[in-house]
Amino acid sequence: MTPGTEYALRAEGIGKSFGRVEVLKSASMWGESGKVTTLLGRNGAGKTTLMKIAAGVLRADYGVISLFGDVKEHHSLARLARSGLMYVPQAQLVSPAYRVRDHLKALATTFGSAGIDEAISEMGIEALLDQTVRSLSGGERMRVSLALALARAPKVLIVDEPLVRLSPQNQEDLANSLRTLAERGTAVITSGHDARVLLSISDAIIWCVAGTTHHLGTPTDALAHSQFRREYLGSEFGEI
Ligand SMILES: Nc1ncnc2c1ncn2[C@@H]1O[C@H](COP(=O)(O)OP(=O)(O)OP(=O)(O)O)[C@@H](O)[C@H]1O
Ligand SMILES: [Mg+2]
Repeated sequence: MTPGTEYALRAEGIGKSFGRVEVLKSASMWGESGKVTTLLGRNGAGKTTLMKIAAGVLRADYGVISLFGDVKEHHSLARLARSGLMYVPQAQLVSPAYRVRDHLKALATTFGSAGIDEAISEMGIEALLDQTVRSLSGGERMRVSLALALARAPKVLIVDEPLVRLSPQNQEDLANSLRTLAERGTAVITSGHDARVLLSISDAIIWCVAGTTHHLGTPTDALAHSQFRREYLGSEFGEI
């Protein structure tokens, strides 16, 4: 952690077991306003578990969560959402039976309509509005989920594996949208295995391994970390 930095979201010293399996031992993640922070780590390393805990979806066995300096004792997704946190899960947040337009209408009813048209055009979902979510492709569904997130201009956005199932050009577009959101002031926290694209848009990299986290610093620092290169990126990775 950098002394003097005010972190938008902090989850520190987090522990979590499922039954007898200890998934997180002492894991931490920090998101900063205006920055993209990315969690990388092998399948099953605990990235989703840590993000869910930080978002109030799952309760930790121990550890501390704070949002803009306030420690959240009994936090829940609904309460954190009122403080400006938005969570887009790996499985995505939209209900399959509803049309895209209905989701946007529901959002407008709850949060007002400001930002909705811009989010639709930013995510390029104009042509999808009358389709049910069920009928969308995986990548289209993620774009709809993110449009719903963007329209709320969250102070903190936790988005788990946003690039999964997207074609290369769509990955790049979506990654750039996350970058833009950060540049507008949001603390973006993301994850995934598309290391090249994620490293190219991130300010900070957190490596999840063996139930704990290593804060590697900038993507350049991460690329210079020989253990991270060897154990996560693999020898063929090269430069970004
Ligand atoms: N509700 C649960 N009950 C039991 N085990 C669980 C539960 N949720 C997660 N786990 C286990 O915890 C471990 C971490 O899972 P998690 O989803 O956090 O990993 P991940 O790093 O996000 O992996 P991926 O990159 O594949 O998405 C896995 O071994 C998973 O099987
Ligand atoms: Mg996951």
